[in-house]
Amino acid sequence: MENIYENEMKLEFSSRSSNEAFARVAVAAFVAQLDPTIEELADIKTAVSEAVTNAIIHGYECGEGIVKIQGRIFGNLLELEIFDSGKGIEDISKAREILYTSKPELERSGMGFTIMESFMDEIEVESTIGIRNENSNEKRD
Ligand SMILES: Nc1ncnc2c1ncn2[C@@H]1O[C@H](COP(=O)(O)OP(=O)(O)OP(=O)(O)O)[C@@H](O)[C@H]1O
Ligand SMILES: [Mg+2]
Repeated sequence: MENIYENEMKLEFSSRSSNEAFARVAVAAFVAQLDPTIEELADIKTAVSEAVTNAIIHGYECGEGIVKIQGRIFGNLLELEIFDSGKGIEDISKAREILYTSKPELERSGMGFTIMESFMDEIEVESTIGIRNENSNEKRD
């Protein structure tokens, strides 16, 4: 069967904060083929950072784990999915509220999802407690 996407990449790395920059740069290199503006590229990198940081800090609570990113291009549509197999999100609507954070003691501000929402055209958040947890971002070029 023929794939409906034109291009695809998959990335897997350890849940360490030093890999946040790696993820941003790797995604930017993949996206470059769509000829994004500097502003679009900055938006995508910021959204990826937020999702990856969430996987590391909240999903794995700074412990060991693997973060996965899948990027796909369909015409001028970019789809990015960021996965972790960490603790999961019990109440997704609450988690997505502006200024909601479960870790105020770590000086998080509860802005991550709001930033992802404003920088991408569409975001979806899925979580299955005890099984799997994923964030997905899409941006039209
Ligand atoms: N991958 C994840 N796994 C488990 N919980 C998550 C995950 N991503 C987000 N959350 C939950 O959703 C809440 C809101 O996330 P959001 O990114 O908006 O804010 P934050 O990470 O707490 O603060 P900030 O992003 O401003 O540093 C988090 O506090 C956490 O409880
Ligand atoms: Mg966050």
